[in-house]
Amino acid sequence: MEGKKIIIAIDGYSSTGKSSFAKQIARKLSYIYVDTGAMYRAVTLYCIENNLIRNCELNVNKIIDNLNDIKIQFIFNNNAEKSETFLNGENVENKIRNVEVSGYVSAISAIPEVRTQMVALQREIGKNKGIVMDGRDIGTVVFPDAEIKIFMTAKPEIRAMRRYTELLQNGDNVTLQEIEKNICERDYIDTHRNTSPLKKADDAVILDNSHISVEEQMQWFEKIFQSVIEKQYL
Ligand code: DC
Repeated sequence: MEGKKIIIAIDGYSSTGKSSFAKQIARKLSYIYVDTGAMYRAVTLYCIENNLIRNCELNVNKIIDNLNDIKIQFIFNNNAEKSETFLNGENVENKIRNVEVSGYVSAISAIPEVRTQMVALQREIGKNKGIVMDGRDIGTVVFPDAEIKIFMTAKPEIRAMRRYTELLQNGDNVTLQEIEKNICERDYIDTHRNTSPLKKADDAVILDNSHISVEEQMQWFEKIFQSVIEKQYL
């Protein structure tokens, strides 16, 4: 699976396995994987830690004023063999996955100024291609010319069960009901916000992985990748 480097955009609903799939593809192609959800999660963590969210209310003006003080980096951890998210120099890879951050991240990511800042960073990271980027607006807004666009979906109850199992393994004390509620709320906010709502790009291919294995998913991708690469050489 070699050749000219392209951009692979993976969008879709929460907990459809976008990041696992994107990481697997990146490993196979020796591409860079970029988790854009982690960027919005890092901004959310910053807001929580700096009291920009009080009693469930966002201080939107202050959040916008503080945007230039939020520095997000991805640094590869050789021991863990994965890239980790840093917020102002601190490794926040685990903190950004907690339930409190998950509860606020959709609201934070709906702020247009936050999106403008993150999209600029995403375009900068992807300017040399050879990337697999996952998120909600990668194929529609960030890289509308991406050579491969995938839109992932799966039944909400299946997504909730997968996420629940993952959080339990991390030692989080959560219930399946909480997770299902959070997933449905995020689906709603992500698809109904005014700026860059989650939607399938017209030229994206749909992947519903409710009932297919990780291996089948990869075989499906390899066929798509081959056909795109062959077209590039015509
Ligand atoms: O992929 P994730 O669940 O870690 O993303 C967290 C939230 O960030 C998600 O609810 C919506 C938002 N997000 C977004 O608005 N745009 C992106 N490109 C990526 C994530």
